[in-house]
Amino acid sequence: MAYIRKNQARLTSAEKRRFVNALLELKRKGEYDEFVRTHITYYVSDGGSGLRVAHMAPSFLPWHRRFLLEFERALQRVDPAVSVPYWDWTVDRTPGASLWGGGFMGGNGRRSDRQVMTGPFARTNGVWVIKEGEADGDFLMRDFGRPRNPIELPTKAQLAWAMNDPVYDTPPWDSTSTEGYRNKLEGWTSATGNDRWRNHNRVHRWVGGHMLGGASVNDPVFWLNHAFVDLLWDRWQARHPRSAPYLPERQPKAGHGPQHGRIAARYEAMPPWDAKPDELLGHRGIYRYA
Ligand code: CU
Ligand code: CU
Repeated sequence: MAYIRKNQARLTSAEKRRFVNALLELKRKGEYDEFVRTHITYYVSDGGSGLRVAHMAPSFLPWHRRFLLEFERALQRVDPAVSVPYWDWTVDRTPGASLWGGGFMGGNGRRSDRQVMTGPFARTNGVWVIKEGEADGDFLMRDFGRPRNPIELPTKAQLAWAMNDPVYDTPPWDSTSTEGYRNKLEGWTSATGNDRWRNHNRVHRWVGGHMLGGASVNDPVFWLNHAFVDLLWDRWQARHPRSAPYLPERQPKAGHGPQHGRIAARYEAMPPWDAKPDELLGHRGIYRYA
């Protein structure tokens, strides 16, 4: 029977405690940092070389769907009642939201070094020691809204701009695609200033600290953002039932631009798994959103 992923704002305090406890247990066992490393490994940019599966590519959505499922299975080995909640950032938009409470994600970083000082993931509690990534300190960092150059969370209007695009993705299938749902939701643009970051990317920017870049899994709110992105993909499919659910169908041909061999087409595996985007177009029978 399918389990339910809930809106984090509607979790009971007992549900929050069990989710946090399962996270902390994965961290103690060393399993959590394996997820951080996997994300770092597969966070390949346009300018890099080789296959891009996690970001700046059509498989952004199915790759993260599978990544969340792997993580959720690990959590459920600790506590079978736990699932990954989602954060609707069009609604819960302030540092005062219950999301950032001391019994859940904890609060902002302090001004001097951006170190998170409250909640279960504060370094001072002894469990959440950052081991992967390029930061100097071993503590979790956040910088809500980036006060030096303030940025807001994405608005409903900005999300609608992505959700209303009926085409899943478009050439050149990377961070420079100006049309297509995938990149409008992932949120890369060539605009200047804050307008550069949209939707999913803008959430990473707004939280700041470890949420910037490939080591963003170090911040557990990563999962809540990506659960919402995963839910949004369902809504997009429901809104555009006649659209191809994934593009491209086939690998771009050799000699037709730089994308040959750099992206996963619909029936090609997304490492580190054997999973193809086509196998992850739905999740019925596994979980559903409430
Ligand atoms: Cu990612
Ligand atoms: Cu992300």
